[in-house]
Amino acid sequence: MEVLAYTPQVAAATAGLYDKVAKVVPEIEWPVFAPYVDAINRLKKQRNAVVLAHNYMTPEIFHCVADFVGDSLALAREAAKTDAQVIVQAGVHFMAETSKILSPEKIVLIPDMRAGCSLAASITGADVRLLKQKYPGLPVVTYVNTSADVKAESDVCCTSSNAKAVVEEIAREFGVDTVIMIPDKYLARNVAAKTGVKVITWEGACEVHERFTAQEIRDYRAAHPGIVVLAHPECPPDVVAEADFAGSTAAMINYVGDHKPQRVVMITECSMSDNVAVEHPDVDFVRPCNLCPHMKRITLDGILHSLQTMTFEVTVPADVAARAKKPIDRMLAIK
Ligand code: 13P
Ligand code: SF4
Repeated sequence: MEVLAYTPQVAAATAGLYDKVAKVVPEIEWPVFAPYVDAINRLKKQRNAVVLAHNYMTPEIFHCVADFVGDSLALAREAAKTDAQVIVQAGVHFMAETSKILSPEKIVLIPDMRAGCSLAASITGADVRLLKQKYPGLPVVTYVNTSADVKAESDVCCTSSNAKAVVEEIAREFGVDTVIMIPDKYLARNVAAKTGVKVITWEGACEVHERFTAQEIRDYRAAHPGIVVLAHPECPPDVVAEADFAGSTAAMINYVGDHKPQRVVMITECSMSDNVAVEHPDVDFVRPCNLCPHMKRITLDGILHSLQTMTFEVTVPADVAARAKKPIDRMLAIK
């Protein structure tokens, strides 16, 4: 890692940004982050680049260098409409692939090619072909947390924020009462619990959310009476059942903004609470810390290196991209 100096110019250029994150970034760490923040923000302009950052990025990325932040659905929508020539995906590989499929004329970079996902790793395109042979006529609803190969075999994609609507719409379009929903068994079960549509699942799970337990939630409630519990639908169903609200990362953020709970716990990846706490100083966040090792591969120095060297470029073979785009577009068209 290149070590950049914290000069008086850098301090002046980034002072406003530090004010924003002071609650969650210790003062002693800022001189390390600030030169990267400053260099990234200057280089982005030269390269006509945007940084699209997922809600699980650390606060110095999320609040200081991102041009757009959001959940998987919002990032996909933004990738489809940005005017920039270069997209730096501050997220994991499947998100960068989705950006490339939606904006094939743009250069899509990811700071670390190893930023994968346990869900994406749990299934291949060949697996989906076998599922379709086993259940002919049933639509395949594929979580965006999958490779382009898997999407290419699918009828429609979904994210955690639109899964129920997508399942209901595709069942209606196909005239069936059952769909195949891959690869997250917990998301599939949580959606099945909210709709009359039956769901055939796959044995995939998010390695971050599957670790939460219902007992943990009961312990939070016992330790902090009145606490509001928000859970991501990648959590096991018994965890979701103990929560006050379940929704995508963006839906959880909106819940805090709309309801302004006095004290809240977000049953999801570690960085979420830090990022949301910046915007809501009056809310007390109890912070469980389950890190996503893939998301955490994205760092400020990695983003700077990406912009300096225009690496690592994410590409998708044209035939796969053309087939994978159809289920993504179909999802984006569902309200
Ligand atoms: P959302 O931001 O779409 O809720 O997804 C969460 C997640 O785990 C992404 O990898
Ligand atoms: Fe995948 Fe879970 Fe990490 Fe999201 S949090 S990238 S679903 S492993």
